[in-house]
Amino acid sequence: MSILQENISLRPYNTFGIDVKARYFAEAKNVEDLVAIFKDPLSKSGPLLVLGGGSNMLFTQDFNGLVVKISILGIRAVENQDEIKVSAGGGVVWNDLVNYCVEHGFAGIENLSLIPGTVGASPIQNIGAYGVELKDVFDECTAFEIETGKLSKFDYAACRFGYRDSIFKNELKNKYIITEVRLKLNKKAKLQTKYGAISAELERRHIVQPTIADISAVVSDIRVSKLPDPKTIGNAGSFFKNPVISKAQFEQVYQKFPEMVHYPAPDNQIKVAAGWLIEQCGFKGKTVGETGTWKNQALVLVNHGHASGQEVYSFSEHIIQTVQNRFGILLEREVNIF
Ligand code: EPU
Repeated sequence: MSILQENISLRPYNTFGIDVKARYFAEAKNVEDLVAIFKDPLSKSGPLLVLGGGSNMLFTQDFNGLVVKISILGIRAVENQDEIKVSAGGGVVWNDLVNYCVEHGFAGIENLSLIPGTVGASPIQNIGAYGVELKDVFDECTAFEIETGKLSKFDYAACRFGYRDSIFKNELKNKYIITEVRLKLNKKAKLQTKYGAISAELERRHIVQPTIADISAVVSDIRVSKLPDPKTIGNAGSFFKNPVISKAQFEQVYQKFPEMVHYPAPDNQIKVAAGWLIEQCGFKGKTVGETGTWKNQALVLVNHGHASGQEVYSFSEHIIQTVQNRFGILLEREVNIF
């Protein structure tokens, strides 16, 4: 029997809850499964999609190729004096790894609590939240080369991390599958609490010397209050990236809109809060058919139950157009469209 299944609904495999079908589907629980999958000639009969938690994608049509769900599990920690290296399989749920590290007192990823998705997907878009990005704790990852079936290691420099970006989204797109990620963590916590929402919440709870468990709890609560739970309302987190624009362009827009929320970015550029731009255009909490934006975070598009991917996509086009017309700023999707 082939390891590939045919005509499988992808609804359980994407957090937007879009009901499309994959022509072929296979689950890899280990590297041997990956070898077997790609030995099957049918694996080459159309496009390929490697799936982690399916939390950063929008399906707009059936997928006429092979979808491979990565379910490689396992977490291992190697400790020395004050540094810890933790390796986790590509299919481990990211937040399970965060909980493991918090329980063991391994510091570094507590600010990344409750980010949906899997460990294997985390370097691809360099996940980040509340002042920390994966790159800050990344040591190396192991990846399966689809063409040769061989495993290679990628260190920090090789991954070429950027804001929600890495080599795996660019030159190496669809060439490698990340099977394991190793992080460099600390026993002595260097807590990152400067993000406004975290410091305000710690103060509200009268916590003066927070532990990593405190930070994890605070971040989790902030996320729950702002972001919809995909188990009840389909979504893929931030739908757009926060646009990074030149200082000259910023100054032009800022003159007209001095309340525009913005932050300094590398190379003398400015990052603008996309959620603010979208809210100013009147979209926050707006429902259009079965789709809309989330009531507490305009950057998040939602599926109210039976939205098609096309419907969500068209709504996102409308948002991009409206923001462009009002502010002259082009929003780019963070979510991958298929
Ligand atoms: N804002 C509004 N209206 C909104 C939403 C936001 O005015 O509806 C303004 C507020 O002033 C707020 C600022 O935008 O202070 C920033 O909002 P928030 O702190 O919610 O963060 P964000 O920039 O919208 C980014 C990440 C999130 C991450 C948070 C926290 C991106 C694309 N998104 O959102 O990541 O959780 O910061 O660090 O960078 C994701 O990537 O899926 C994601 C959820």
